[in-house]
Amino acid sequence: MRDEDNNLSALQELIRSGEFRNSQELGKKTEGRVFDKRTLLHIYHLMKSLEISTIDFPIASGKESVVFRARMGKTNIAIKIYKMSTLKFNRVEQYISGDPRFEKERRDRSRIVYLWAKKEFANLTDLHSAGISAPAPIALKGNVLVMKYIGTGPSPAPLLKQYNPDPEDTYRQVRTILRDMYAKAKLVHADFSEYNLLYHRKKVFVIDVGQSVSLKHPGSLEFLKRDVKNITSYFMRMGVSASEDELLNFVIKNE
Ligand SMILES: Nc1ncnc2c1ncn2[C@@H]1O[C@H](COP(=O)(O)OP(=O)(O)OP(=O)(O)O)[C@@H](O)[C@H]1O
Ligand SMILES: [Mg+2]
Repeated sequence: MRDEDNNLSALQELIRSGEFRNSQELGKKTEGRVFDKRTLLHIYHLMKSLEISTIDFPIASGKESVVFRARMGKTNIAIKIYKMSTLKFNRVEQYISGDPRFEKERRDRSRIVYLWAKKEFANLTDLHSAGISAPAPIALKGNVLVMKYIGTGPSPAPLLKQYNPDPEDTYRQVRTILRDMYAKAKLVHADFSEYNLLYHRKKVFVIDVGQSVSLKHPGSLEFLKRDVKNITSYFMRMGVSASEDELLNFVIKNE
């Protein structure tokens, strides 16, 4: 038996033995799609190298990824696993070509998921270096990304969409995030909304930055305008006096 097969059966054993508590919640179909053989190996290697003791439960399961909470020593972490089969090539292509950091990568179908994960990891790293409120990246292997967990014990932080007790204050924080992403990290989020902002201990965190692009991307200004439009309309619905033009000026010119 090859080493890989050994590792793989050990991981499968782990899953069966209940280390993946509540994995049945994912449903058989989803589980099958997420945990193809290569993905299992990536998880296995990360568990070994980072000394991850348990993968506790899925926080969220969407079309293109599943996010788990796990334990690394005494720390809670989040593991985002990009599904190998459902990432839409055409949807992601527009955020990759045009970004000089990733343009030269081979972009055949089987590599695109890895590239997408790599892009999210690089973006999280840039956000972190710029001091922007986002989960700190920890490790990446293939389509498996490990980052800091935002939440309290078993409760992952809610999305702003779900819980926003002080819209005036969260709007101030959100403006700063958007401006610092642009001015310090030189990135445009490109899917910025109340669905990709977490609220934790009165602080807003930005997540889901796989599609975020460098300012050098030819579409970056259009993406920024779309982000500004979406978030302004959300905060206006929350009763905050917000304006697209004002926010765009604040982000671009710091006025
Ligand atoms: N670091 C984290 N800590 C706690 N919860 C997280 C973390 N990262 C992601 N989540 C949760 O997992 C969900 C999915 O994450 P994310 O938005 O990055 O993935 P996605 O595949 O783009 O999902 P969607 O298509 O639903 O936006 C988030 O809405 C959030 O609830
Ligand atoms: Mg999201």
